[in-house]
Amino acid sequence: MTESRKLIDSFGRVHNNLRISVTDRCNIRCFYCMPADNVEFMPRAELLTFEEIERVVRVGTSLGIDRLRLTGGEPLVRRELPSLVARLAEVPGIIDIGLTTNAVLLDELAQPLHDAGLKRLNISLDALDPEVFRKVTRRDSYDKVIAGIDAARRAGFRPIKLNAVSIRGLTEDQIIPFAELARETDTEVRFIEFMPLDADSKWQNDKVLTAASIKKILEDQFGELRPVPKSNPSAPASDFEFADGKGRIGLIASVSEPFCGSCNRFRLTADGKLRNCLFSLEETDIRPLIRESGTDEDIATAMLQCVAAKKAGHQINSSDFVQPDRPMYSIGG
Ligand code: 5AD
Ligand code: SF4
Repeated sequence: MTESRKLIDSFGRVHNNLRISVTDRCNIRCFYCMPADNVEFMPRAELLTFEEIERVVRVGTSLGIDRLRLTGGEPLVRRELPSLVARLAEVPGIIDIGLTTNAVLLDELAQPLHDAGLKRLNISLDALDPEVFRKVTRRDSYDKVIAGIDAARRAGFRPIKLNAVSIRGLTEDQIIPFAELARETDTEVRFIEFMPLDADSKWQNDKVLTAASIKKILEDQFGELRPVPKSNPSAPASDFEFADGKGRIGLIASVSEPFCGSCNRFRLTADGKLRNCLFSLEETDIRPLIRESGTDEDIATAMLQCVAAKKAGHQINSSDFVQPDRPMYSIGG
């Protein structure tokens, strides 16, 4: 393998960021992601083992992957997750490992994950009001999430990063409480627009609480928000400082102002498919290569081809947009 090969698509975007879904299972049922019941999960034998994931990562590093994020479903329901983190942290070339979790199981796992070498944790929490939390997640796990966030703080994760999906007609009144939390504590809060990746295909444009409307709600309360220059041009969040200089807030305008042009992300699903975009309609199955007689070179070629075929961006705002068959929980966020 030559060192110079990189995961570059036809638009010149360089991919150094691999998001790895470790399971499609989840212990809650957010309506924008999962169906309420009768979820069909992947059979366990179809999930890549930790050895298999590590192999893909090693091949990825030879193509310029240096950052990883573990996702789900809910990654913490995958048994022995800290041992995967420890394994991946040892792979030469990997400089950063993050994890996106709903925090339900974080009370027990924050410390072992930190000890295993996890550097960054994003916690998904859409509401600070337990009743709104229950409406979104269809579960009563609010107290566990709060306990999980406390455990993350005790384990040394700093800052605590919260991601809140914003839904018109449901989460408007959560915005000010989240902003106060960001202003009063060492918590970074980012609001994410609701994307068409729900299992029920009930997404509609008018349910997107746009970054612009969130900004307006915040400015009505706290005064003008000042944009903070991006330290990382590929970061999806636009950060803003409050007028009084106290705290900041992030807005992820995935639908209303797509940031596909600076995307550096590439995905591996729990069942071993490569995806070059959350919204792609095609994927590359590398499990047969991994499980049968594929060489590392074959896996590298599959990765290069998958990235090369990446489209310019998602088409959510176009009339011929087609929602992918896989909902969020089986892609990985
Ligand atoms: N739209 C926006 N964000 C979503 N997430 C899951 N489904 C959607 C959706 N349809 C978020 C989760 C989590 C991350 C993995 O993606 O809340 O923060
Ligand atoms: Fe579970 Fe995350 Fe999907 Fe919510 S968004 S149901 S926490 S996988």
